[in-house]
Amino acid sequence: MADSSAKLEIGGNTHDYAVKDGSVGPQVIDIRKLYADTGAFTYDPGFTSTASCESGITYIDGDKGVLLHRGYPIDQLAEQSSFMEVAYLLLRGELPGKDELAEFKTTITRHTMVHEQLTTFFRGFRRDAHPMAILVGVVGALSAFYHDSTDISSPEQRRIASHRLIAKIPTIAAMAYKYSVGQPFVYPDNNLSYAGNFLKMTFAVPAEEYVVDPVIEDAMDKIFILHADHEQNASTSTVRLAGSSGANPFACVAAGIACLWGPAHGGANEACLNMLREIGTVDRIPEFIARAKNKDDPFRLMGFGHRVYKNYDPRATVMQKVAKDVLEKMGVSDPIFDVAKELEHIALNDPYFVEKKLYPNVDFYSGIILSAIGFPTTMFTVLFALARTVGWVAQWNEMITDPAQKIGRPRQLYTGPTQRDYTPVEKR
Ligand code: SDX
Repeated sequence: MADSSAKLEIGGNTHDYAVKDGSVGPQVIDIRKLYADTGAFTYDPGFTSTASCESGITYIDGDKGVLLHRGYPIDQLAEQSSFMEVAYLLLRGELPGKDELAEFKTTITRHTMVHEQLTTFFRGFRRDAHPMAILVGVVGALSAFYHDSTDISSPEQRRIASHRLIAKIPTIAAMAYKYSVGQPFVYPDNNLSYAGNFLKMTFAVPAEEYVVDPVIEDAMDKIFILHADHEQNASTSTVRLAGSSGANPFACVAAGIACLWGPAHGGANEACLNMLREIGTVDRIPEFIARAKNKDDPFRLMGFGHRVYKNYDPRATVMQKVAKDVLEKMGVSDPIFDVAKELEHIALNDPYFVEKKLYPNVDFYSGIILSAIGFPTTMFTVLFALARTVGWVAQWNEMITDPAQKIGRPRQLYTGPTQRDYTPVEKR
């Protein structure tokens, strides 16, 4: 990677900082010595211009609407690959050969059961608890059940913990759903695919046989691929920051789940479907477009806009196609899909959205598919977390093994009171 330098003049002095090229994408200015040189910090709330790490996992070109996982375009992976293949690719850096994939699938399959004692852990939640609240709690508790894979200095324990998280997250997600609807937990079935096993654990009941619908299984697998990883987004950065202190991987992923829950992030899929249902019919779209443009109204078009994509989110393109296919193959005509397509059309021709480069993102169409499959809106972000767990685990492993890794500890621009003396309450 060719290096050059950047000059910074401050306080009458000029300082040189190395400029590094990645394999593709923006250069970075290495400012690690800036505070020692100048006594000043950089200031970048929301990290709009800050690279927090070096990574080789996912590359996004927001202007071109490009998303690559280890160099492979997301549309090719969604159309031709499988979630287990993509999981292997994210973790190991290369697509697996036939035998490697078979071995990886077997390893993950054999870790899908959870400690039986975990089932009693669920009993402490109210039945109407949001499944994301359950997921945060149960995943955070996994280090209490799998203490033998929490030593992050051991490559073998890191490997086992990584496999346990990827394998058990669907089981825990399905259990969260079953608990919320008062149905018995369904054990994993090792004869099924990753997506098929999740569907069975979620929708099967002891009273009758459950047969996985291949159309829904394929759509589920594609949805998992589209949500697997996405560079240094808020929840992934949370996982990395938690991991930088040496916290165990179960605690780090629980932190990522908590962050993903926000409506500005992974919670947008639930918020988007609720918004589409509130709009209800095409004739009410202008009212909501006007609200989204009104600075005095906190309302935003959920599923629209993105910190990085200033073009169409390539995942939304695939997601819209999957939504169309699933609704057609299931013989479901959801008027909300028509509202979504018309809302997209109107917004993409409205100067406000065009000027601000606001396009549909991954969350805009996903809820329509998930709703058609039978998931309640409260499960939408759980499914996002389920799929993103492999990305969090891959990024966590990369962070742990990065020689430049240090505990993350940002500074601040302090604007509070300067030093003053305490006065007793009698004198206040
Ligand atoms: C995900 O980071 C990732 O990669 C995340 C993700 C992943 O895979 O991990 O891609 C998943 O989180 C997708 C995003 C899901 N969130 C939503 O759909 C919620 C709605 N979107 C917005 O809240 C917003 O677009 C964000 C949070 C996604 C991005 O916000 P930014 O980058 O901080 O941009 P901004 O808030 O500064 O907005 C820029 C301008 C503002 O107007 P001005 O103050 O400049 O006048 O655009 C406006 C915003 O008001 N704007 C919107 C809007 N999104 C931004 N106006 C109306 N509706 C919207 N959705």
